[in-house]
Parts: sequence; C-alpha cells; structure tokens
Amino acid sequence: MIKNTDELYDRIVKHQELVESDPYRLHYHIMPPVGLLNDPNGLVYFNGRYHVFYQWNPWETAHGAKYWGHYVSDDLVHWESAPPALAPDQWYDKNGCYSGSAVVWNDQLYVFYTGNVKDEADNRESYQCLAISEDGIHFEKKGPVIHVPEGYTAHFRDPKVFYHEDRWYMVLGAQTEELRGEAVIYTSADLENWRFHGPLIGSGHPGIGEFGYMWECPDLFQLGGKDILVACPQGLSPEGYAFQNIYQSGYFAGSVDYKNLSFDHKPFVELDRGFDFYAPQTMVDPTGRRILFGWMGNAEEKVVQPTVKHEWIHALTIPRELVWQDGRLLQRPVEELHHLRADEVHLEDVVMEGKVELPGVRGNVLELELQIADWQADAFTIGIGKTTRIHYTSDSNVFTFERNGADGNGPMESRQCIVEELRDIRIFKDTSSMEIFVNGGEEVFTSRVFDDPEDGSIAFSTESGRVLVNARKWKLEKSAEQQ
Ligand code: FRU
Repeated sequence: MIKNTDELYDRIVKHQELVESDPYRLHYHIMPPVGLLNDPNGLVYFNGRYHVFYQWNPWETAHGAKYWGHYVSDDLVHWESAPPALAPDQWYDKNGCYSGSAVVWNDQLYVFYTGNVKDEADNRESYQCLAISEDGIHFEKKGPVIHVPEGYTAHFRDPKVFYHEDRWYMVLGAQTEELRGEAVIYTSADLENWRFHGPLIGSGHPGIGEFGYMWECPDLFQLGGKDILVACPQGLSPEGYAFQNIYQSGYFAGSVDYKNLSFDHKPFVELDRGFDFYAPQTMVDPTGRRILFGWMGNAEEKVVQPTVKHEWIHALTIPRELVWQDGRLLQRPVEELHHLRADEVHLEDVVMEGKVELPGVRGNVLELELQIADWQADAFTIGIGKTTRIHYTSDSNVFTFERNGADGNGPMESRQCIVEELRDIRIFKDTSSMEIFVNGGEEVFTSRVFDDPEDGSIAFSTESGRVLVNARKWKLEKSAEQQ
C-alpha cells in the first residue's frame, strides 16, 4: 500500500526533533529529513538553480521502496528541501523509483529512472521510466520507455542520459544472463523512443577480464579531451589495497567511437579509497564544470550506525569538481564551499618533530589544509579525535586511513593506497564524516566516523625526523536548513 503525502509530512514533522537532536547530524552535507538516503540522482542545473535528487526510503532506516527526495540550491552549498519528486505509486515502479538522471529539453526537466517491481515470490522486473516537469518541482510520470532486452536479467537499471553532437544517449547498468556486469547504451532523437545498441563495455570484454556480476550506476562524459565511463561493479574480490569495500566505484578513461559505439580505454581506476563511497553521479554546470556527488555510504552494512537511534541514516558527499590532469581524474571540493569558512588559522613553516599540537587547530566541523614544504622523516601521523588516524610512511609510500569501526565502536580498521610523494592533504571533517583529499585530489578517502562529538583534538607526530608544514584551518559554518 502506498502511503499518501500527508502521512509522509506527518512522519517528517513527528521525527524532526529526534533527528535534529542527533550530535552526529551533519552540518554541511545533504541528508534525508528522516529515513534512509542512498544514491544521488538527477543532478541538474535547471532554471538558474542546482537540483539534487536522492534515493530515499522515508519510512524506515533500511532499504525499501524508494522515493526520489529533492533539494534545490543556488550555490551547491546551501540546500532547501523540495517536495518528494517521485513516489513508488504506479504498477511499473511500485517497489521503488530507483536511480536515474535528469536532462533539460525544450525548457522542461526530463527525468529517467528505473521502476522496480517485485512479486510475492521476490521475482524482479525493471522498467526504464520517464517523468517530465515544467517547474522542476512537480513531475508528471509518462511510464516506461524501455523494457529489458533479450539476453539480460532484470538487474537492468540506473539510466544516465546525455546529449552528444546530434542525439541523446543513455547508459544503463546491466547484468547479462551469463551473470556478467555491463554498461549498455541506447540512443534517441526525442527522449521517448530509444534504440538499443548493446554493451559499450563490460565484464569479460577484451582488456577487462571477469569484472563483476552486475554494474550499477554508469555515467559517461567528456573531460579534458577524454571520454570517462564511471561504473560501480559488484562482485570484485579485494586485490592488494584495491577493492576493499563490498561494492566498488571507479572509472575507465579512453576514447568512445560514437559512430560504432565502441570504447577504447585504459584499466579501471577506483574513485575513492575510503569506507563509505558509492554510486557517484556527475553533472555539468553552466560554467562547464563537471561536478560529482557520491553516496557517503555503501551497501549491505552489517553494523548499525548510531544515527539509526535518531531515525535517519546516510548522507551525500560534498560536491567535487572533476579535473582531468596528467592522465588521471582529480577530485576537488567545489570552490563554493569557501562560503562556509570562518575563523581562519594560518600557520607558516611549522616544524613538526615528534609529537605536536598546533595552536587553534582543533574542532569537530572543519577544513584543514596541510602543505608539506619539506620532508625529512620516515612517517607522519595525524590523529583526529580519539579514534581516527591518518598515517603516511615514506619508505613504502603507503597512505593509511584508520577508524574504529563503521559504528564508532568496533576494532580499528584501515584503508590504504600508494601515494608516491605526499605533497598536500586537505581534510573536510563534519560531525560524523571525513573526506580526505590527497595531492590536490589524486586520491580521496571518504568515510563516516563516529567519534566522541565533544573531542575536537588534532594531534600530529613524526617518526625519525621532521616535516615542515604550512597549515590553514577553518571552522565550517552550518549550511542552512536541511529539513
Ligand atoms: C545503488 C543502487 C542502484 C539502484 C538503487 C536503489 O546503490 O542499488 O543500482 O537503482 O541503489 O536504491
């Protein structure tokens, strides 16, 4: 039974106090007003404003029949809530309006999403559906425009639509009947009639090998003269420091032949090294920037996060600008986040040797930028709060992030990657999250952290030598009402 809008607002209002009294409620990230959030959807700039939709189960802090929640912003930093854009209320989406994307066409907003349908025996059906809006707030559903083609299972979802040269394209996450993940491609002249062209890339294709039983949330765009295909393969096994989370997000860079719809590309590169990053989506803004949001979570968590007591769970990452440089994708927090900065602390030429605390460098919600001016040590460590640690050793070039479990209560666990030479670290810390950008965004570690909210300590230390650092730190202001 679909609950009506009044019931939904009642639930939000009834839980507002409980949700807002959570010390782990974030200050400058997009969160659900109540319930569970997962993927960012439909990122678009329409009629002068940014729109972010998100997968939302308002009724419980668990996955279920998803809605599209909606926030609107003038500057990518301050968000206003809008009414839910899509509810699972039709035969073709009754078990969830799953992930998808938005484009602007003839002054209207077209959103494409996957209608998820399940029967009593849990058999699944998927429909790629269209909904149209004149004002960007109210949507009229047009129903399915694509059915699952032969050779594929019902794991066929997450349409990402874009215009290129003379027509519309859609990439979709798919699973073949042989249980291989693929990104398949469609074209259209009018956004309603779609032609299937098969896979653009997938598991088992030349140069890829076996690479997962399903690919979710593909995205395809051009940046710096390259074609970048982002995908989220499921079913990869850990390999050294790579593929440590249950599901992965990363990209293939290369060149798409749009005539033959083939893709010549380099190997898969992970987008993020942290514990909580999945299902990213990108958009292009009017200045031409390619902006990415990710889900600051991952699937099938076994541990219950403490926010569940306050009837909400998960958030989106901060918006990041993507830049293609020296053969790799860099992620940089969008410049507009400067609007949140307050109380700057600026320390030049700080000699770090042994254990050090920096005057004024502490807090629970902050941005911290460290530039390494000179390195004469074996290792450098930053302890943030009691239970989070960043560590770099120059003999092995290993960068490590550690936290005390997914609920802030477990044993220490770590994520690592190789960083050839550490030049800078930029940390965005919120009440229960940390996004660490290494070397101008060459590597990123995104994680939820549940530390003592009263503990704003930051301690630095070196091993066998000294490190010369320039540091800047800001307190970050709350970015307005999220309800
Ligand atoms: C990714 C995903 C998508 C799906 C959505 C459902 O996290 O599984 O493939 O559309 O979430 O909420």
